[in-house]
Amino acid sequence: MKALVQHAVGESPRYEDVEDPTPGPGEALIDVAAAALNHRDVWITKGMYPGMSLPCTPGSDGCGIVSAVGEGGDEGWIGKSVVIDPSLDWGDAESHQGKDFNILGMPRAGTLAEKVTVPIANLRDKPPHLTDEQAAALPLAGVTAWRAIMTQARLQPGDKVIINGIGGGVALMAMQLAVAFGCKVWVTSSKKDKIGRAQQLGAEAGFFYVDAGWGKQARKTLGGGADVIVDSAGGPGFGELVDALAPGGRIAVYGATRGKWPELLPAKLFFKQATIASSTMGSPREFSDLCTFVADKKIVPEVDRTFPLEKGAEAFDHLASGEQMGKVVVKPG
Ligand SMILES: NC(=O)c1ccc[n+]([C@@H]2O[C@H](COP(=O)([O-])OP(=O)(O)OC[C@H]3O[C@@H](n4cnc5c(N)ncnc54)[C@H](OP(=O)(O)O)[C@@H]3O)[C@@H](O)[C@H]2O)c1
Repeated sequence: MKALVQHAVGESPRYEDVEDPTPGPGEALIDVAAAALNHRDVWITKGMYPGMSLPCTPGSDGCGIVSAVGEGGDEGWIGKSVVIDPSLDWGDAESHQGKDFNILGMPRAGTLAEKVTVPIANLRDKPPHLTDEQAAALPLAGVTAWRAIMTQARLQPGDKVIINGIGGGVALMAMQLAVAFGCKVWVTSSKKDKIGRAQQLGAEAGFFYVDAGWGKQARKTLGGGADVIVDSAGGPGFGELVDALAPGGRIAVYGATRGKWPELLPAKLFFKQATIASSTMGSPREFSDLCTFVADKKIVPEVDRTFPLEKGAEAFDHLASGEQMGKVVVKPG
């Protein structure tokens, strides 16, 4: 079969022939209909992801049709249209992942291929209202957003929410979930057109995170600040988020695209009784809850662009450019 293979750090993944995978006991073989990229795949090309193990086929997100199951697997799955939970070996606790936790797409071969094998426990029915591209855009961003806002930041209907950097795949999913949950959502971006698109998808309005002092402005506009702020940038702009937070507010943190936090007076947090709610991916139960919610509310993940698998390297460049709004999808031919 054809697949993208990341051979070495600093290179683009190559489109090449690899051996067809066979499902082991308890696993399923999926003919990939569509896959999607995450920032994780870009970090891997740069050698900036924990537990680097190359060569490997990247890709954590995918949907497709089950074509076979391994020994002991329920044959009822064969022929079903599925989405894949990218969290492998989460472990027994809901509060945190266990020591064996890993993510599909390194070290285990991922979805940027014509076929992929995964544990049957990681399959869920594809939400029927979604196209293949939309379904492929859901899993990693969706489960990360779900746990960050629902479990860790304890989102309530009616909460005022700010999503920082709405161009991000997880950020946009978090916005769509929060809007569908009955929250009022504001966004930030570096780009006016992204704020405009977010408003079409249900956001109230937006702020430019590049403008110094936007956090205090947002606190005024929201009439006392945000109950929940969602952030994956970190970096020097983090203090603005603290300024935008309402008393008793929660900041859900799941990324560090812009690196270390600035020096911050602890009083800015504790006088507000603020909580920093950190989060990574999500448990199998949370992935099921996400799929049910998305199907019930008919949420449609935003797809920015779709590239053919043979042009996968261009898809990586597009994601790395930060120009995208929503998910970058890759489709086998
Ligand atoms: N912990 C986890 O489980 C987990 C899961 C998924 C992702 N992550 C991490 O979360 C981050 C985002 O991932 P992703 O896949 O959603 O990324 P992505 O789609 O590549 O998002 C990049 C976006 O970040 C925004 N951004 C850049 N600089 C910013 C700044 N200074 N302030 C605010 N926003 C800024 C930009 O938004 P605009 O274009 O609107 O300006 C950009 O579009 C990555 O660091 C990733 O590794 C962690």
